[in-house]
Amino acid sequence: MRPLVDASIPTYVFDDRAELARTLADEVLMLLVRPQEAVLGLATGSTPIDTYREFARRRRESGLSFAGATTFNLDEFVGLGADHAQSFRRWTRESLFRHVDFDPARTHFPDVDAHDLDAASREYEAAIRAAGGLDLQILGIGRNGHIGFNEPGSERDSRTRIVDLHPWTRADAAKSFGSLERVPLRAMTMGVATILDARRLRVVALGMAKAEVVRETLRTPQSSALPSTWLRDHADVRLYLDRDAASCL
Ligand code: PGA
Repeated sequence: MRPLVDASIPTYVFDDRAELARTLADEVLMLLVRPQEAVLGLATGSTPIDTYREFARRRRESGLSFAGATTFNLDEFVGLGADHAQSFRRWTRESLFRHVDFDPARTHFPDVDAHDLDAASREYEAAIRAAGGLDLQILGIGRNGHIGFNEPGSERDSRTRIVDLHPWTRADAAKSFGSLERVPLRAMTMGVATILDARRLRVVALGMAKAEVVRETLRTPQSSALPSTWLRDHADVRLYLDRDAASCL
């Protein structure tokens, strides 16, 4: 692992993705041994999966318990049932909760089945506050600079809300949905300000497809045209890259 000098976000480049996952897992697990309970913000998908596998390994091999932790998922598609193969609820249950002992009563998902989605968005925001705020948010970056589903145009002061998905986001999701038409048009996401309120942000980008947006995130002027540039305002943010994602730096 090597730190990047003079980056606008403290940035670390890993030759080995497994080492990246171990480093991030170590940071999360440090929170679990504190007397207070940890509140974790969870991203989904290929970016955090190795870190979640690392959680499962520590659970298996060291008996480490996650039962005291509280979790809030970052975002969710609107219009899929909770058991839909592509729903983030199902993904999180199958990829993470099945393998470690999180207490289901302490896990939270955006309520995209609510009759009043705006009220549900406000309630999600209130629930995060009531839990004491997020100790650590795990994040990816989309090719278009989205964080969560805060697509280009998302303001720095945005809160949990319903958003229209950007064409690139839907195109990237089309493969797992089987076709573009099946990808939902809308989602609920924590806002940019919700994310920036987390006490620690750990942002991961992997692969060549992220190399350009990583460069822009670090080096272009901050603006809502590229929401990931707002990450530079955070006091305790780290960007973890593999070699490919760092290849334009
Ligand atoms: P991914 O990227 O989908 O490649 O994991 C993260 C994101 O789009 O937020």
